[in-house]
Amino acid sequence: MTSEIYERLRRVDPDYYTFERVNDMVPLLDKVRRLKRERHAVLLAHNYQRAEIFEVADETGDSLGLALKAAEVKEAKVIVFCGVHFMAETAKIVNPTKTVLLPDPSAGCSLADSAPADAVRDRIEELKQAFPDLAVVTYVNTTADVKALSDICCTSGNAVSVVRSLPARNILFIPDRNLARHVANNVPDKNIIAWDGACYIHEQITPEAVLQVRSAIPGLKILAHPECRDDVLAIADATLSTSGMIDYARRSDATKFLAVTECGLSDLLSIEVPDKQFYRACKICPFMKSITLENVVESLEKLQFEITIPEETRRQAERAIHRMFEVTSRDAIPLPPNVPVE
Ligand code: 13P
Ligand code: SF4
Repeated sequence: MTSEIYERLRRVDPDYYTFERVNDMVPLLDKVRRLKRERHAVLLAHNYQRAEIFEVADETGDSLGLALKAAEVKEAKVIVFCGVHFMAETAKIVNPTKTVLLPDPSAGCSLADSAPADAVRDRIEELKQAFPDLAVVTYVNTTADVKALSDICCTSGNAVSVVRSLPARNILFIPDRNLARHVANNVPDKNIIAWDGACYIHEQITPEAVLQVRSAIPGLKILAHPECRDDVLAIADATLSTSGMIDYARRSDATKFLAVTECGLSDLLSIEVPDKQFYRACKICPFMKSITLENVVESLEKLQFEITIPEETRRQAERAIHRMFEVTSRDAIPLPPNVPVE
């Protein structure tokens, strides 16, 4: 058992996942599994989580995949969300009778923080004066309060198809300006008004860092997350959500890839697609990495930290998420082509 886990984890980083370290993790992994049974809990883990969390996850995925999985949870009473606060909130919004736990309450998101609800409300009012047909499209990396102000939500995996589906020409896109530009390039008939937010992790990745790897590795395919800067997206072979990158790497004839996003995705790719090679030009999101086996155990033992949302806010946010679910389903999402930015 230990050696199987060790074989998987050492693919991620043999210097960090030594046999001794993995051996020390095994009692904690067993404890999480036992507590999950006792608490009737399921564990949903985002693709950026630490590799040892994947060992105890019932489902891994991107924001869209996990929102859909959370909505489908029936038998379990508890959802332990290994990700960041807005993702756990989304799980509670779509499945309100479950106890949803976030193992570290400080696991926030700089992008969600860049759109406070009061400022969003003021901006919507102001823009509606100028554009009576305005539709408000909100990336899921936002608080429940902001989702509640929106017409429809989207994720990195479906933003293009969500915007395309709307009759309105004028769209306020909240909060990521890079994803907004990617959408505008793919849906040129819409007037996309971008909120001026960004993820500070993705913004640190430069085209120079990407080109340095590309020049050293012939045949490399560059897969970039749409939260990256436009000059990074312009040199990517494809712009994809985190799960979109995994699908692409599995299906592609290429054997060498650079996943330009948070480093956890490269970790997961080395586990999920072991016959291909993955290089790195990534940054670590400290919010995602604040979830550990230790705080997952504590979360299950003490049933902490529970997500609560006022019912009126939850209902309005749920409407925006359900509209997104209606427009697209996980299986139906086409891989969007990368559109170079002028
Ligand atoms: P995905 O929905 O593509 O997994 O992205 C979530 C995220 O937080 C990216 O930084
Ligand atoms: Fe938020 Fe950026 Fe971390 Fe994703 S990588 S959770 S957008 S801070």
